[in-house]
Amino acid sequence: MGVKPYNDYLYIMYPNQRNRRLRKSPAIRQLVSEYQLSANDLLLPLFITSGKQVKEPISAMPGCYRWSLDLLEEEIKAVWDLGIKAVLLFVKVEDELKDNEGTEALNPEGLMQRAIRTIKKVVPEIVVMTDVALDPYSSYGHDGIVEKGVILNDVTVEVLCKMALSHAQSGADFVAPSDMMDGRILKIRTALEAARWTDTGIMSYSAKYASSFYGPFREALDSAPGFGDKRTYQMDPANRLEAHTETLRDIEEGADIVMVKPGLAYLDIIRDLRDQVDVPIAAYQVSGEYAMLKAAAERGWLEHDAVMMEQLLAFKRAGANMIATYHAKEAAQLLL
Ligand code: PBG
Repeated sequence: MGVKPYNDYLYIMYPNQRNRRLRKSPAIRQLVSEYQLSANDLLLPLFITSGKQVKEPISAMPGCYRWSLDLLEEEIKAVWDLGIKAVLLFVKVEDELKDNEGTEALNPEGLMQRAIRTIKKVVPEIVVMTDVALDPYSSYGHDGIVEKGVILNDVTVEVLCKMALSHAQSGADFVAPSDMMDGRILKIRTALEAARWTDTGIMSYSAKYASSFYGPFREALDSAPGFGDKRTYQMDPANRLEAHTETLRDIEEGADIVMVKPGLAYLDIIRDLRDQVDVPIAAYQVSGEYAMLKAAAERGWLEHDAVMMEQLLAFKRAGANMIATYHAKEAAQLLL
């Protein structure tokens, strides 16, 4: 028996089939809902800065701050009390500490290392994930070591391994390489195993695109590239299959969690990967996405909370297990 033409099918089934029956009350809508958002799904990115009693607003990211370590203690308790299970740490490094090799990234008393210890002292249960890339430490603002205008791969990976080890030694639960150098997951995994940091996980930014949505973040860390752009290492937004290659390779190399970044403009990639891989997938709703909603809401053009929750739910529907988002606290508050 052949399949009936679409219109014919509708004609026959109506009025017996009415999808509105499943939408007629909040209770039935909740019964049939396919995806739910919970605070357990959220990772909060946090910006750390030096000094004392510092809570510096970031202009293009209203509601986000750079925290000094003393104030971070209170903040981390508040975050945990909201039910958020993980934070993703980024540091703003002073200009005089930046160089081409990212030397400061390996300082056992560096800001990142101290931030990890501070958080683990205050709330040991929270999952601490750390950004592994050279850009905040680089005098060129690039994620790797630069030679004659080229971002070198293999020598950068060596530094990233040492950086990851240093984070593990300071107590990080997961290191999160966001640099997009080739082969770094294998090398970092091998280095962690060799040093017996066998329980330290890797969340790989596996499909990270060369995106213009990162603008406000680069202001937050003062880490914009000094020359050129990041297109020789981050992915071309035109590519879809390449996200599979990158992600499958990172899983083979030892990634425990993989990531798609940015978020909303790349939901198709999240879905593709969800259908292909079994490891947990993180989505990163990046700074520019956050800024767009804040700006529109400020003008009264969008209803902030409703749009925020709709966007976060869309990540779940696309197939993400967790979402790194600057909205994490606001969303968790609404979910309490
Ligand atoms: C740096 C890094 C970036 C982001 C996370 N890690 C910026 C970049 O790659 O230039 C962007 C996050 C955001 O925009 O929210 N390795």
